[in-house]
Amino acid sequence: MVAFITGASSGIGAEFARRFAANGYDLIITGRRKDFLNRVADEIKTMYGRTVTIKTGDLADPNHLAELVDLLRNSPDIDVLVNNAGLGLKKHFIEDDIGNPDLLLDVHLRAAMHLMHAIIPGMTLRKHGTIINVSSIAGFSPTASDPTYGATKAFLTLFTESLHLVLHEHGITVQALCPGFTWTNFHEKLGMPKEEQKHRGILRWTTVEKVVDASMKALQSGTVVVIPGFLNRLAMKIVALVPRRIYYRIMKGKTLRRR
Ligand SMILES: NC(=O)c1ccc[n+]([C@@H]2O[C@H](COP(=O)([O-])OP(=O)(O)OC[C@H]3O[C@@H](n4cnc5c(N)ncnc54)[C@H](OP(=O)(O)O)[C@@H]3O)[C@@H](O)[C@H]2O)c1
Repeated sequence: MVAFITGASSGIGAEFARRFAANGYDLIITGRRKDFLNRVADEIKTMYGRTVTIKTGDLADPNHLAELVDLLRNSPDIDVLVNNAGLGLKKHFIEDDIGNPDLLLDVHLRAAMHLMHAIIPGMTLRKHGTIINVSSIAGFSPTASDPTYGATKAFLTLFTESLHLVLHEHGITVQALCPGFTWTNFHEKLGMPKEEQKHRGILRWTTVEKVVDASMKALQSGTVVVIPGFLNRLAMKIVALVPRRIYYRIMKGKTLRRR
């Protein structure tokens, strides 16, 4: 049993790596930071005695992506794909170079789609497999912070649900994992210091352990769209019910971004 996890050098991806290793999987993990990947691999080898293969590279690099696609096409022992790699943007779309939103399209969407396209035929033949796409609650509603991040996650969630409608007949489980604010390095990279990463009203922060717990539990129950945390689920239900005109009035100009 092998689990292939993108963006496993830190945060949620590293926790997925630990969890699948604890469940008896060997791993293939990817990311750009070789030293971080080595650290995760060493920890897993020591704690769980599993084999960990590292593939270093940028998912926006077509050559690296092609190498991973080839690996997935030709490795029938890979039964789990976790498309987790992701990033936020420091600048708003209207003031950023177009290359940065492009990077989100490449990493969140193009890479995830190519990797799924590579592995699904084999999973279909074997009538078995699991695909987890790490999306976000940001995909459920517009925000003033950044239009590209939420829109790519909305795409990823809808894409995953649409795949579920067909792949469940082939024994393949797909999941769109939609975490809310999670303590990783993600927000610090965007300029939000750790001390500002605090609960605000219904907006709660959570840990990578709880996020991955929710994902693993949902694999058993077959839930396709997974929102970890009761308050996050409640907030998303409220957002869906609020008329858009009122929602816009509340959200206009509200941004987590430092301008
Ligand atoms: N933290 C949150 O509040 C939160 C909430 C909802 C959803 N998410 C989603 O959760 C996923 C994991 O994020 P995280 O919070 O765990 O943050 P993180 O610790 O920064 O992890 C992001 C991972 O993605 C990899 N990555 C980023 N850009 C890449 C690129 N161009 N090529 C290859 N790998 C790349 C990073 O590896 P390298 O830097 O080594 O390349 C890292 O392993 C992301 O998809 C994110 O959108 C996070």
